[in-house]
Amino acid sequence: MKRILSLMMTFSLALSLAACGGTDNETQTPPTAPPPSVPESSAPAAPSADPSGDPTAEPSASGDSNILVAYFSLAGEQYEVGVIEKGNTEIVAEMIAEAIGADLFSIQPVTPYPTTYDGLLEVSQQESPEAPPAIAETVADMEQYDTVFIGYPIWWGDIPAIVAGFLESYDFSGKTVIPFATHAGSGMGQTQGTVESLATGADVLDGLAIRGQTAQNDPDTAKEDVTAWLEELGLLPQA
Ligand SMILES: Cc1cc2nc3c(=O)[nH]c(=O)nc-3n(C[C@H](O)[C@H](O)[C@H](O)COP(=O)(O)O)c2cc1C
Repeated sequence: MKRILSLMMTFSLALSLAACGGTDNETQTPPTAPPPSVPESSAPAAPSADPSGDPTAEPSASGDSNILVAYFSLAGEQYEVGVIEKGNTEIVAEMIAEAIGADLFSIQPVTPYPTTYDGLLEVSQQESPEAPPAIAETVADMEQYDTVFIGYPIWWGDIPAIVAGFLESYDFSGKTVIPFATHAGSGMGQTQGTVESLATGADVLDGLAIRGQTAQNDPDTAKEDVTAWLEELGLLPQA
């Protein structure tokens, strides 16, 4: 219990610090943010039957587009939204792919993540970008893509270690890389810089941050933000 409390305090601090330096286009969480416990009213008792940590749960779609939307996202218990069947970032990834007709790739760990929020806080603390968790599948033909969106939840103000591992597994030189994140107040946190440093040789465009609970509970608003951003990037097909 003591350990969980200390993890919560550390997370609150990470969230506050990240909020100070974040580039979010939404309201930042103030330093007095509540601890990241899931509100009881929004946390059903049973965990999701389909946690996205299962490598076989979601097929990694591949098609003939020259744009790829790769993302890491977890179902199960998440901050502010309770137990969810589809991860917040996955919802945004699907919106992007649908809007521009891109291929989707789900970054799945070999070892599934815990489906409880406290479990995630604990496991994520033991990970490091230098020794990232193994990824179950690879993108069949990365050469095919000129533009790669990379989506992730903000973890401790930065990208999850598994996303660092994904970015280090491919040669992005000459490609356009576009980050997007879901979060609980930190906006993009430090991730814009992290993606720029890992996607060596790529032209990394400004990312989009969407609050996880907006993606999950107010998809119309999330979709408006996604559409406006894609329009700004000039990626929406002309009507
Ligand atoms: C281990 C962990 C660390 C997190 N750290 C932060 C953080 O530093 N700042 C923040 O705004 N949100 C943080 N969050 C909240 C997630 O970014 C947010 O719930 C996200 O929408 C989850 O996306 P997903 O469902 O696609 O995995 C954290 C969540 C977890 C599980």
